[in-house]
Amino acid sequence: MINKIREAITLFNKRLDTGKKESRVLSLQNNPEEKVKKKAGWISPAYSQSRTIHLDPGFIAGNRCLAYLDNVPEAEAYRVLRTQVLQRTQGSGSNTIMVTSALPGEGKTLTAINLAFTFAREFQHTVLLVDGDLRQQSIHKYLGCAGEKGLIDYLEDGSPVSELITWPGIEKMTLISGGCSFQESAEILGSPRMKEFISDMKGRYSERYIIFDVPPILTGADVLTFAPLVDMVVVVVQAGKTPMDDVKKALRFLPKEKILGFVLNRC
Ligand SMILES: Nc1ncnc2c1ncn2[C@@H]1O[C@H](COP(=O)(O)OP(=O)(O)O)[C@@H](O)[C@H]1O
Ligand SMILES: [Mg+2]
Repeated sequence: MINKIREAITLFNKRLDTGKKESRVLSLQNNPEEKVKKKAGWISPAYSQSRTIHLDPGFIAGNRCLAYLDNVPEAEAYRVLRTQVLQRTQGSGSNTIMVTSALPGEGKTLTAINLAFTFAREFQHTVLLVDGDLRQQSIHKYLGCAGEKGLIDYLEDGSPVSELITWPGIEKMTLISGGCSFQESAEILGSPRMKEFISDMKGRYSERYIIFDVPPILTGADVLTFAPLVDMVVVVVQAGKTPMDDVKKALRFLPKEKILGFVLNRC
């Protein structure tokens, strides 16, 4: 298992080295492997405006962000989840997904990151991962990047979206995570400015999925105000730990028709 992860990290390192140049997308046109991918429908976006950040594969693998690595058995569960999302949303225009759970520490952030990595490996789609846990943004910490500006800078200070989006050197993925924390996050998550953000992101690229990592359902009103703005909800449940009563209570706060399903984490 450890050897497999090492092999995968080596491969990942190689990919990141290639990915360091922002002009990479253009240079790929001469690469035979990429030509085959392109023929099969692989979409290569150009992130000319995004700031580039460099991930350390060893660091992110150590934080269990494993789904971007090749030949990692853990990634299979995320592929199943991605397939379910794709099947449920085909042709419907639904492309915004919120990852939540009843309580803190059940694996929401890790699920959101790994699902985003899995989408980045999908042929016809790209993905934007957004840290919507404004009280405790943590995606940038899992990925080991500075996280200078985040959603709060857009919602509170009017920073343009282009200043928030970073490109973590993964071809089909962009990221918004960072900035200061914000305690009155429920109000701001349900604000007209947030609605504007979602409708702008939703419509900008037809092939893009937007994944939001959000706070737990039972610890505040954030999810209650945010759920009406997204198309789908993935609910993480920690195997053997989340009490059934809390899961049931949490589900009462979610629009039933938006629940895509449950992720049984740590089973
Ligand atoms: N499948 C898993 N296996 C092992 N540890 C996990 C798993 N999912 C989450 N964790 C650990 O549990 C803790 C909380 O995970 P996190 O994704 O931050 O939860 P949340 O976002 O729900 O608060 C972290 O230390 C994380 O590494
Ligand atoms: Mg979290």
